[in-house]
Amino acid sequence: MEKYLINPNQKLSKISKNIYGHFSEHLGRCIYEGFFVGEDSPIPNVNGMRKDVVDALKEMGIPVLRWPGGCFADEYHWKDGIGPKETRKKMINTHWGGVVEDNSFGTHEFFELCRQLGCDAYITGNVGSGSVQEMSEWVEYMTFDGVSPMAELRKQNGSEKPWRLKFFGVGNENWGCGGNMTPEYYADEYRRYATYVRNYDWKNRISKIACGANAFDYNWTDVLMKKAGRQMDGLSVHYYTVCGDWGKKGKALEFTDDEYYITIEKAYKIEELVRRHGDVMNRYDPDKRVGMIVDEWGIWHDVEEGTNPGFLYQQNTLRDAMVAGLSLNVFNKHSDRVTMANIAQTINVLQSVALTDGEDMILTPTYYVFKMYKDHQENTLLGSYITTPDLPGRGKTPQLIESASVKEDGTIVSTIVNTSLTEASEVLCQVADFKVTDITAEILTGEVHAHNSFDNKNAVSTADFTSSIEKTTDGFKAVLPPCSVVKIIIR
Ligand code: AHR
Repeated sequence: MEKYLINPNQKLSKISKNIYGHFSEHLGRCIYEGFFVGEDSPIPNVNGMRKDVVDALKEMGIPVLRWPGGCFADEYHWKDGIGPKETRKKMINTHWGGVVEDNSFGTHEFFELCRQLGCDAYITGNVGSGSVQEMSEWVEYMTFDGVSPMAELRKQNGSEKPWRLKFFGVGNENWGCGGNMTPEYYADEYRRYATYVRNYDWKNRISKIACGANAFDYNWTDVLMKKAGRQMDGLSVHYYTVCGDWGKKGKALEFTDDEYYITIEKAYKIEELVRRHGDVMNRYDPDKRVGMIVDEWGIWHDVEEGTNPGFLYQQNTLRDAMVAGLSLNVFNKHSDRVTMANIAQTINVLQSVALTDGEDMILTPTYYVFKMYKDHQENTLLGSYITTPDLPGRGKTPQLIESASVKEDGTIVSTIVNTSLTEASEVLCQVADFKVTDITAEILTGEVHAHNSFDNKNAVSTADFTSSIEKTTDGFKAVLPPCSVVKIIIR
C-alpha cells in the first residue's frame, strides 16, 4: 500500500490559474476552422468564432491564450491583420504548410475571441523579422487610451477603447525559427525591444516575457537572467515530449507498451527541466520575481496519415492524458516559480483539447484532464508526498505523480496520475490535523489507446469515482486503476 500525506499546515505557493493556459498559432487548422470560421459560415458562430469550441473551452476553464505563434509570430506583421478584410494582405505561411494566410483573423479578432472565452490575452511580438517600431506601435495600438496615431487607427478600425493586454512576449524561439540568435545577442535585443513595449496604463501593467530556452539549454537561461533579468517579468521555456526521434516521432494512435513508457519517461523530464531552470533563475532572482513561463509544452506525434505534414494534426489518447496530468501536477508543485504554462496547441494542432471536422467537434482525453484540474486554479499549493515505485526499466520515473492544493474555504483538491499500464495502486491518504467530513472523486481511465473520434465521440470521458473511495477519519483509502488520472476533493 502506498502512503500519501497531505499537510494543510504547509501552505506553499499560489497555483496561478495561468498554469492552465493554452497556445494557438496560425498553424494548420488551429485558428482557421478551429476557432474562427467567419461570420458567414453555416457553422454556428458569434462574430466568426465557433460557438461549440468557445463553449467547451469556457467550461474547461481557459484562463489565458497565447497568440499568434510560435514560429509564425516572428514573421507576422500585425498591420496586415487590421482594417477592412477585403484589403488585408495575403501572405505565405512559410513555416506551416506554405499555405496562404489571408489575415482575416488579426488583432481585433483575437481580442474578440478572448472576450468570448473570458480569458486573458498573451501576445507574442515579432523580433526575428520585425522592427522595434513595429512592436512598439502594436502595443500602442492595443493599449493606449489617448490621442496618438495608433490609437486613432484603432478607433478607425472600430475599437474606440483599448484592450487589456496582460502578457507580451518579446519574440519566440529566437534561438531557432525566431532569428537563430545567440543568447548574448538576443539578450541585448530583448533589452532594446522591451524598452519600447510601453506601459501606457500604469494600473494595467503589461508583463513582459523574454524568449527562453529550448528544453535543457540552461546556458540560455543563465545568459538571459544575467544580462536582462531585471528588464523582464517572465522568461519562457519550451519542452515537447517526443517518443521517438524528431525524424520519426511515432503515431498518436498506434504504439507499443514500451513506446508508452518511453513517452512517460520523457514527459516526466519536465520535472528536472523546471527544477534546473529554476535553480539557474534562483541565482539571479532569489525572490522569484521573474516567472517561469512554459509557453509551449505537450506531446508531439507524427501527423495523422493523409493530412498536410505542415499542419501538425494529431489524435489524442489516454497516453496524452497521462502526459497532461503528470505535467500539470509538476507545474503545480513548482508554482513558486512557474507562473504560466501554455499547452500546444488548443485545437487541431499537436496536443489539442478539441478536434474539429467541418461542423463537428470532439473533445480529447487531454480536455478532460484540464477540466478536472481546473479546481486547482488559484488555490494554494500544499505540502504533500506520495510513496511510489518507479516505472520498471525507466530510471527514476515514478509510477504515481500527485499534487494537492487548498481553496480559500479549506477544501482540499488532490490529483493523482497512475502511469502504470498494468498495476493498480492502493493508496492510503492521511491529511494532517484534518477531520474529513466529505469526499468526492472523479476519474479518467481506460485502455491506453482509447480516444474519441468523429464516429465515437464519447469513448473517453470522466466518470464519478466517489463510490470507490473509502473515507477514513483523516483521509481516504482508494485503489487507483492502471492508466488513470484521479481527482479527489476532500472537505
Ligand atoms: O508549436 C509548434 C512550433 O513549435 C511553434 O511554432 C514553435 O515555437 C515550436 O518550435
